[in-house]
Amino acid sequence: METNHTNVLVVDDDNSILDGFKELLTREGYEVDTAANEREALANLKEQHYHAVLMDIVLKETTGIELIPKVQELSEDTVIIMITAYPSTESAIRCFRAGAFDYLVKPVKKADLIRAIERSCERKKEEQEVNSLRRIKETAEKSNNEKTLFLMQISHDIHTIMDGIIGHNNLLLKSNIDEKQAEYLSSIKTSCNFLRNLADNILDIAKVEVGKLSFKQEDFELAGVIKDVARIVYPSIKEKPIQFIYAIDKDVPRYLNGDADRLRQILLNLISNAIKFTESGEITLKARLMTILGKGCHVFFIVNDTGEGIPKEKQMEVFKPFFALDKPTKSHHGGTGLGLWICKVLVEKMGGLISLHSEPGKGSEFRFSIRFNLIKDNVV
Ligand SMILES: Nc1ncnc2c1ncn2[C@@H]1O[C@H](COP(=O)(O)OP(=O)(O)OP(=O)(O)O)[C@@H](O)[C@H]1O
Ligand SMILES: [Mg+2]
Repeated sequence: METNHTNVLVVDDDNSILDGFKELLTREGYEVDTAANEREALANLKEQHYHAVLMDIVLKETTGIELIPKVQELSEDTVIIMITAYPSTESAIRCFRAGAFDYLVKPVKKADLIRAIERSCERKKEEQEVNSLRRIKETAEKSNNEKTLFLMQISHDIHTIMDGIIGHNNLLLKSNIDEKQAEYLSSIKTSCNFLRNLADNILDIAKVEVGKLSFKQEDFELAGVIKDVARIVYPSIKEKPIQFIYAIDKDVPRYLNGDADRLRQILLNLISNAIKFTESGEITLKARLMTILGKGCHVFFIVNDTGEGIPKEKQMEVFKPFFALDKPTKSHHGGTGLGLWICKVLVEKMGGLISLHSEPGKGSEFRFSIRFNLIKDNVV
C-alpha cells in the first residue's frame, strides 16, 4: 500500500463510524486520526497539520458548523468536508457559507469520499496559489507606486530647477555679450528646454501610472487658450519661413467648461511638433463644433502643417511612447518621443479621440476632439 501523505482528521461522535472511516481511508493510503468531540478535534489540530477534516454536522455538545471557524482559526489551509445523515438544502448552504469545501451524505460511498477529499485539497491548493500570486502582485504594485511617486517628485524638482536656470540664462542672453557667448548660451537654452520638457513628460506619465492625472473643470474662453498657444510658439515660428494661422468657427461656444491647461498642453505638443518637422510653409489650427448634446459639446481641433510628413506604415506607431522616426532629419532637434502619446492619453481622458492623416513630403494633419461642458448661458 502506498501512502499519499494526505493527513485526514475524522470528527464524529459515533465510534463505529470513526472506525469505519479510519479503516477505509487508511487502506487508501491516507494518514488518519479520529476525534469523537470538539475537545479532541481541537487538541489534534493543535498537535499536527491536517490537509482535510471530515466532520459530522451533528456532534454531541456542539454542531460541526460551529466547529468550522475554530478549525479554520487553528489551520487556515485545512479543507473541511461536512458529512451528515440528515441532508437539507438549508444545512448545506449554512455549511458552505461557514467555509466548508464539500457536503456529503451518509452512507458515503468510498469513491465519493476519496473524490471529495482530492478535489477539495486540489481546490485549496489552487486558492492558495492565487492568493500568493495576488499578494506578490500587491507588493509589486505597492513598490512600483512608491517608485513612481519618487519619479514624480524628482521630475517636479528638475522642472523647478530648470526654470531657474532657463530664467537666468535668458537674462544673460539679453546682457552685453559677444556673438560666441550668445551662441554658447543659446545652446544651453536648447538643452535646458529639452531637459525641462523631458521632466514634464515623465511627470505626466508618472501621473497616468499612479492614476493621479486630474482634470480641472473651470470656465474658460477658447480664443484665450489659442492666443496663449500662439504667443508661446511665436519665437520658434519666427526662426523659419513659416506662417501660423488659426481660426475658430463661429458656432463654437465662446466660453467652455473643462481643463484649459490640458487643452493648451495638447495644442502646444502638436504645434511644437508641426514647427519642428516643417521647414517652410504653413501651420494652421482650426477649432470646429462637432456636436452639442444636452449640457456638453464636442469641439474638434485640426492642426495642419506643410512639413516632411510621416510614412503610412509609421502612422499608427507615432502615438506609442518613445516613438521617433528611425532617421533623425535635419529638422529634428531631438525629442523624448513622448509628446504624442501624452496627447493621446489626455484626449481620451477628456472624452475624445485623436487621429493622424499624413502624406510624406506634403505634410501632416492631426485631428482630435474633446468633450467640454457648456456653461449655463450656452446650454441648449
Ligand atoms: N507634425 C509632424 N510631422 C512629421 N512627423 C511628426 C509630426 N509630429 C510627430 N511626428 C513624428 O512622430 C514622432 C513622435 O512625436 P512625439 O511628439 O511623440 O515625440 P517628439 O516630438 O520626438 O518628442 P517630444 O516628447 O519632445 O514631443 C516624432 O519624433 C516624429 O518622428
Ligand atoms: Mg513632440
